[in-house]
Amino acid sequence: MSDRQVRSILFVCLGNICRSPLAEGVFRAVLAERGLEAAFAIDSAGTGGWHAGSAPDPRSVAVAARHGVDITAQQARKVTLADFDRFDLILGMDRSNVDDLRRLAPEASPGRVELFLDLATGRIKDVPDPYYGGEDGFLDVYRMIREASEALADRLAGREATPLSGHASSTT
Ligand code: 4NP
Repeated sequence: MSDRQVRSILFVCLGNICRSPLAEGVFRAVLAERGLEAAFAIDSAGTGGWHAGSAPDPRSVAVAARHGVDITAQQARKVTLADFDRFDLILGMDRSNVDDLRRLAPEASPGRVELFLDLATGRIKDVPDPYYGGEDGFLDVYRMIREASEALADRLAGREATPLSGHASSTT
């Protein structure tokens, strides 16, 4: 898939209350800073449905707010099969999310499943689950997501010469 064809992105973690709501909010903010918000459909979801209908975790809300990003309007939901048709890119926060998504994906569905940091920065690295840790973990997660979001926006805006590809996809 070329950069130009990507118009919709779904960020996915396990619960859709900590990492992927931050990724959705931060990536939207990065797009808005570049005047690109209207060009992309952005959403987030979880591979698990335990928190469906819930607002993001207060620790994600707080770290986002400290950086000028409001994620309070988001509501957790579970990934659906239709997501694999609706989104050009489906980005898992860690490798277990990517494995779960690839198991779920209907055969021949157009949505491309990749590891977020791999696709954005070329580093095969997880955004770690901060749920059972402290506030520091949420700040680390925020920083990783911010850097990867800037890198992904650079690629989608065509500022990066490298084609939009992730190492994680090289065997599929
Ligand atoms: P997330 O974090 O996947 O980044 O939203 C988690 C949220 C909830 C749980 C695990 C991870 N949980 O086990 O309920």
